[in-house]
Amino acid sequence: MPPTWQRSEVTLAPPARGEDLELAARFGVPVAAARDTTSWQLFRSDDGLVLGSPLAMGALRIALDPDAGAFARRLRTSRRDEPLSRAVGLPKRQVPPSVVDATAGLCRDAMVLAHLGCRVVALERVPALAMLAAAALQRSPLAERLHVERAEAAAWLTALAPAAAPDVVYLDPMFDATGSAQVKKDMQACRALAGPADDAAALLRAARLVARQRVVVKRHPHLPPLADDVSFRVEGTRVRFDVYLTETSAAPSRSP
Ligand SMILES: C[S@@+](CC[C@H](N)C(=O)[O-])C[C@H]1O[C@@H](n2cnc3c(N)ncnc32)[C@H](O)[C@@H]1O
Repeated sequence: MPPTWQRSEVTLAPPARGEDLELAARFGVPVAAARDTTSWQLFRSDDGLVLGSPLAMGALRIALDPDAGAFARRLRTSRRDEPLSRAVGLPKRQVPPSVVDATAGLCRDAMVLAHLGCRVVALERVPALAMLAAAALQRSPLAERLHVERAEAAAWLTALAPAAAPDVVYLDPMFDATGSAQVKKDMQACRALAGPADDAAALLRAARLVARQRVVVKRHPHLPPLADDVSFRVEGTRVRFDVYLTETSAAPSRSP
């Protein structure tokens, strides 16, 4: 039998600011009595709110700042014709599409889409990851277009009122990071906290019932698509985006 994976609990370490306590309550992150380097914790440092792994896992430190440093550069250099943008259909539209990012993780992709003008709801089931992303957005102009929720995406999508259906549902169940050292570190943390991506095919089915125009699935170039009937693919240098046009899609064209 395969080994059973157990989700690690992540706590918020003291001293915590009032706004962090509010976020912890909103996302369901327990507050610890003390800093504990043997477990996963969120804590404040000069880099802002940081997600730290246990010492035994290499004391990873994940911080997210959309307004400074390497990630801010990634946002500044993002383009309407890059593969992610083409996959969600940005270049063809005057008004950017509304997007539900149903596997938000640290919201890097969601932040790129919001930076390019999309209205994005980002769903993440691991409370600490959702909280880290929401904390990073607190003082960022991106917060006008990007809203983070802690949710099981399939249930959230299924409960969505038809009038609230997004143009695009975006799925990134991919943990095999092939980017910078920072992206690899982020994915290591996401994988450790989120566990195996075992419901991606079911999530795709739920997403296809909801998206008005398309569902986009980020895949490793060597992996097969989640379903056979991909409408078209957008190839990136390190990833592939499989696009599934949906029945309600008005777009006759099967290209980005
Ligand atoms: C590979 S990461 C996504 C990385 C993200 N695209 C980014 O740019 O930071 C996948 C994330 O999806 C979340 N996830 C997977 N299945 C989910 C589901 N059914 N509902 C909500 N979140 C889910 C996992 O917890 C994990 O954090």
